[in-house]
Amino acid sequence: MSQEDTLKSTIGDKEFIISYSSFFQINRKLTKRLYDEVLKTVKNKKPNKVLDLYCGTGTIGIYISDFAKEIIGIDNNGSNILDANKNKKLNKVNNIEFICDKVENRIDTFKNIDLIIVDPPRAGLDNKTKEYLQKIKSKTIIYVSCDPVTLSRDLKELNESYIINYIKPFNMFPKTYHVECVCVLKLK
Ligand SMILES: C[S@@+](CC[C@H](N)C(=O)[O-])C[C@H]1O[C@@H](n2cnc3c(N)ncnc32)[C@H](O)[C@@H]1O
Repeated sequence: MSQEDTLKSTIGDKEFIISYSSFFQINRKLTKRLYDEVLKTVKNKKPNKVLDLYCGTGTIGIYISDFAKEIIGIDNNGSNILDANKNKKLNKVNNIEFICDKVENRIDTFKNIDLIIVDPPRAGLDNKTKEYLQKIKSKTIIYVSCDPVTLSRDLKELNESYIINYIKPFNMFPKTYHVECVCVLKLK
């Protein structure tokens, strides 16, 4: 297998190219429901500026791109960001910029963000990211989590500035102990 070996997948009205070394959600049916849950809040808030942190191949940012003015996606995996830029072109999206870096290297550079989406790996959010999420003071954070244990830890810390609006679980990995959740947080 090489970087040139790709799959094409459709979620809603968007198409995605995924290279073999890139990240992609494995439960296609529930991925649409998960992204629709994120989209519901985005449509409701009509944000100008959105951060899509841990953006993978740009899927969530591209999925919501018709309902936000400007989106910045960050992921530290070069293959993901190569695909994210291909996916941006494929879907003729002009309002997203993708950055290849660690979130914690960039999080202190953002101001005037209306809505932040975080979808970290199982380890959850690092301390610097949590500190700056509270300093940026976006009105809404949508936390997409694949580990309820680190989600709970992070929510406890973010609770200084954010209240939990709701948490919705998705059985993305049936018959395993893994649970995916979408959690919507509101600035206090
Ligand atoms: C759970 S995936 C989410 C991907 C995407 N949001 C999706 O729905 O397909 C987590 C992503 O975080 C990225 N990642 C892990 N640690 C990171 C870090 N410190 N900074 C930026 N991205 C990171 C991984 O490359 C992976 O793409």
